[in-house]
Amino acid sequence: MRNNRKIMIAGNWKEHFTVSEASHFLHKLEESVISHHSIEVVLFPNILTLQPLSTQLDRRKFRLGAQDGYYEDAGAYTGEVSMAMLRDLVHYVLVGHSERRHLFNESDSIVAKKAQAAVRNGIMPILCVGETLQERLANETKQIIHNQLTAGLMHLTSTEASAIVIAYEPVWAIGTGEFAKPDQVEEVILYIRKQVAELLGERASRHIRILYGGSVDDQNARSFLDISSCDGALIGGASLNHLKFSKVVESAYRVQQQRTGQ
Ligand code: 13P
Repeated sequence: MRNNRKIMIAGNWKEHFTVSEASHFLHKLEESVISHHSIEVVLFPNILTLQPLSTQLDRRKFRLGAQDGYYEDAGAYTGEVSMAMLRDLVHYVLVGHSERRHLFNESDSIVAKKAQAAVRNGIMPILCVGETLQERLANETKQIIHNQLTAGLMHLTSTEASAIVIAYEPVWAIGTGEFAKPDQVEEVILYIRKQVAELLGERASRHIRILYGGSVDDQNARSFLDISSCDGALIGGASLNHLKFSKVVESAYRVQQQRTGQ
């Protein structure tokens, strides 16, 4: 059955850009990325640069997302930036990125609260899930994905959850250059869709968008986008190369044209 989910190409700018560096890079991207109505391109710069970039951004081409956000809307939490503070700036926020989970000890319950806080503030969470190498080798991939999904979606209604995005990012493929094989990606994405169907119903499972992330670049993007159940890519390193990133957007456009039979 043909799906009408819009392909998303998301760039997680994992670079400690200053405001002027980020602005300069956005300028280059705006020159090289061609806008297509059928493709959603979302940029995730660091929190400091969101505000200035939001005034520079060509909204016909790009949307903005935050790399993280705090789950309490108000209160004394020194240093934290809440979803409530982000709500006028971004469409999306990453929650449960593996770097947050592993380097900052974010538990499933914190991830769940962040997903809930995002939805409460009208921001769409991109819930990141994925197994470590050790877990894959121990055949625990599905169990880990199941646990992360169940926990991450815990506070959302079926309608809320069907509007969110899930990113499958195997930890061993992030920033390593060792990307997952398309059949491994397809297997996990189908498993995620099945889990979503069980947790939230068939309708949510058909609507929810699921991305792949982990060493995606202009050379391999097409092999993931050709998976019919895969709705796009979350890209780290290669999103910081404007030529590579714009080539991925073009690949996505061609795939979307095929999907819609144009
Ligand atoms: P890389 O594309 O650098 O592997 O990073 C993936 C990622 O973590 C995107 O959020």
